[in-house]
Amino acid sequence: MALSNLEKLGILFVAFFIFYCLKFLWHFLYTYAIGPAVHCVDFKSKGKWALVTGCTDGIGKEYAKELAARGCDIVLVSRSLDKLKATAEEIEKEYKVATKIIQADFSEDDKIYENIEKEIAGLEIGTLVNNVGVSYTYPEYFLDLPEWDKLIPTLIKANVVAVTKMTRIVLPEMVKREKGVVINIGSASSIIPSPLLTVYAATKAYVDKFSEGLDMEYSKKGIVVQCILPGFVCSNMSGIRRSSLFAPTAKVFVQSAIKLVGTTTRNTGYLPHAAFVNIVNSIYETANSFGTWLVVRSMENSRRKLLKKYKRQ
Ligand SMILES: NC(=O)c1ccc[n+]([C@@H]2O[C@H](COP(=O)([O-])OP(=O)(O)OC[C@H]3O[C@@H](n4cnc5c(N)ncnc54)[C@H](OP(=O)(O)O)[C@@H]3O)[C@@H](O)[C@H]2O)c1
Repeated sequence: MALSNLEKLGILFVAFFIFYCLKFLWHFLYTYAIGPAVHCVDFKSKGKWALVTGCTDGIGKEYAKELAARGCDIVLVSRSLDKLKATAEEIEKEYKVATKIIQADFSEDDKIYENIEKEIAGLEIGTLVNNVGVSYTYPEYFLDLPEWDKLIPTLIKANVVAVTKMTRIVLPEMVKREKGVVINIGSASSIIPSPLLTVYAATKAYVDKFSEGLDMEYSKKGIVVQCILPGFVCSNMSGIRRSSLFAPTAKVFVQSAIKLVGTTTRNTGYLPHAAFVNIVNSIYETANSFGTWLVVRSMENSRRKLLKKYKRQ
């Protein structure tokens, strides 16, 4: 029985649909189950020490703990000395590894890097987590950002310069040893529409692109480069205190993200965040004007709430 053109078109459509679904399923299975089982990275074998920036709270602190749990000694680089000492003590006690603390404020000028370089000279750093990051206190229109002249250089220094300079300091020894892991913490805000967080999202787009190029340049030299692009995570920065499926605790988030090292070079790090990014981008791509209206409106609502909270504090 000969098929009509319409029937042939229908079969083609169904075949494409099945192919697309299978590809999608394979991608998720590979990223979150098969890959982490097969490509599980032994961080300690990459080098005795792991260095984490912005490590006394939130995502950075959890990376430091997860790496210590895997046997790495930890270099802690962050702003507040008291918090550094407390974090070091907690990690040494819990994981029986050595720690070294370096106080550095990444919103300051280049001199901090001279000190960091001196402090880590001679340490075999196998893993670098470029986590430190600064955001707005609340979502705001570009021209209305408070303390504009101070905030913008701070965002650029802490989010762009820090990841670049820290990589410049640590990578040469990794390349010499032909092994190492560099994890750069970006943000999902750079891959979904993010009005009222414009400069923050733009600095995180730098982290994403920087990681892509770095991976292409140095994977052949044995270096694993990964960019993690989280959605909302409970932390001081996000201001979210109660965890939910789409805003996990930093611990849950990092336990998921760290398993993906070696499997994927660019990921949100956490399956519900990947779903969130896909949903937002699908709405935006399918109905551009509606998507813009929706996202601006929700950011304005969030601005109103957070500004009220900020003024109360
Ligand atoms: N939380 C989220 O929803 C979310 C989403 C997407 C991406 N991210 C990214 O994830 C990373 C970590 O965010 P988080 O939410 O975990 O932040 P967090 O809980 O606020 O912790 C930030 C850490 O960085 C340190 N820090 C802040 N400013 C610093 C500076 N100028 N110099 C040195 N250290 C500094 C803080 O130390 P002090 O306590 O001493 O200030 C603290 O240890 C950032 O790059 C952020 O952009 C977070």
